[in-house]
Amino acid sequence: MKIMMSSVSCIRKLIFVLLQFNLLFPNYSGAVADASLSGGCIENERHALLELKASLVLDDTLRLPTCDSNSYGCCSWEGIGCSNQTGHVERLDLNGHQFGSFRGEINASLMELQHLKYLNLSWSYFSNSIFQQLFGSLSKLRYLDLQSSFNGRRVPNDLARLSHLQYLDLSDNFFEGTIPHQLGNLSHLQYLDLSFNNLVGTIPHQLGSLSNLQELHLGHSYLNVGGEWLSNLTLLTHLDFSGLPNLNSSHVWLQMIAKLPKIQKLKLSDSGLSDLYLHSLSPSLLNFSTSLTILDLSYNTFSSSKIFE
Ligand SMILES: *[C@@H]1O[C@H](CO)[C@@H](O)[C@H](O)[C@H]1NC(C)=O
Ligand SMILES: *[C@@H]1O[C@H](CO)[C@@H](O)[C@H](O)[C@H]1NC(C)=O
Ligand SMILES: *[C@@H]1O[C@H](CO)[C@@H](O)[C@H](O)[C@H]1NC(C)=O
Ligand SMILES: *[C@@H]1O[C@H](CO)[C@@H](O)[C@H](O)[C@H]1NC(C)=O
Ligand SMILES: *[C@@H]1O[C@H](CO)[C@@H](O)[C@H](O)[C@H]1NC(C)=O
Ligand SMILES: *[C@@H]1O[C@H](CO)[C@@H](O)[C@H](O)[C@H]1NC(C)=O
Ligand SMILES: *[C@@H]1O[C@H](CO)[C@@H](O)[C@H](O)[C@H]1NC(C)=O
Repeated sequence: MKIMMSSVSCIRKLIFVLLQFNLLFPNYSGAVADASLSGGCIENERHALLELKASLVLDDTLRLPTCDSNSYGCCSWEGIGCSNQTGHVERLDLNGHQFGSFRGEINASLMELQHLKYLNLSWSYFSNSIFQQLFGSLSKLRYLDLQSSFNGRRVPNDLARLSHLQYLDLSDNFFEGTIPHQLGNLSHLQYLDLSFNNLVGTIPHQLGSLSNLQELHLGHSYLNVGGEWLSNLTLLTHLDFSGLPNLNSSHVWLQMIAKLPKIQKLKLSDSGLSDLYLHSLSPSLLNFSTSLTILDLSYNTFSSSKIFE
């Protein structure tokens, strides 16, 4: 009876997770039907998940995202999603917001989940880096969310090997050094967030090859924007250059943004922009697309409120 109760609440949670998931993967149907029909997941993936769980430490005021770990059907565990066709685990969501922040190591058994398309490890603090192993094994990843999860050193060049990525969030990981130009190879990317790191150098012009990019967040680092490359990102709707102290050293980026036909939200707060900076521009350069609905210029030093008309 106790087990029944827990699996009912488990399935309810799973349905919630799957509902969210279906927003991301409209063609993807989750595990509920399959798990109850076939009894669950593939054995080596189930072992990998148990191993992974065993290596994680959790503040005991917080709960672990699992149901009955002895039950055969790991596809019905919280945070897990399987393909309803192959039964492989395709989704692993251990984000710390929902489940409470994890500590400890990410066990290499994660790499057994070779069919993963979605991996969310955001908001936990892992003591080891899994990057090198990720690139070799999880080549099918489409969504990778590692916001606030690692103490990075450099953004690894080998990320470019995850060639199916559509969504990449590496924000708030203390990354140093430059943005690797190889990221320009991730031609399916729609969302890229590298903000809140300690990145330096000029943004590589190769990012101009990311022709499917819709959101680009590069704020709160020490990057130089440069800019010609920006005009290639014709699908861009959201751009965040907030908190880049060198933004005021060039006008090029601003001219390029004015060419972006779909831009909706532009964040330029806290970037050393001033009246002096804008007065040196011809007004025609500030002719943004009518799609622009939000322009954030807070924490700059303008004396007039009539700058962008
Ligand atoms: C698997 O998912 C697809 C797409 O959502 C759906 O059409 C199909 O009926 C599902 N198959 C099973 C066995 O649930
Ligand atoms: C992590 O994985 C290794 C093998 O890769 C294994 O020997 C070890 O026991 C695992 N650690 C935990 C805590 O599960
Ligand atoms: C990962 O989880 C966080 C916290 O719930 C959420 O805000 C974020 O959107 C998730 N990432 C993806 C790619 O779904
Ligand atoms: C990026 O693409 C170029 C050609 O398009 C290729 O030569 C290069 O090896 C790729 N780099 C990586 C890291 O995949
Ligand atoms: C940007 O587009 C132009 C023309 O469409 C092209 O010549 C150039 O190579 C592109 N730049 C990058 C970085 O992709
Ligand atoms: C650019 O902004 C920095 C602060 O972020 C400021 O110290 C500097 O004077 C500004 N330069 C120009 C040319 O406005
Ligand atoms: C701004 O752009 C619109 C449409 O592209 C054009 O009709 C208009 O003349 C431009 N205004 C200025 C001041 O350049």
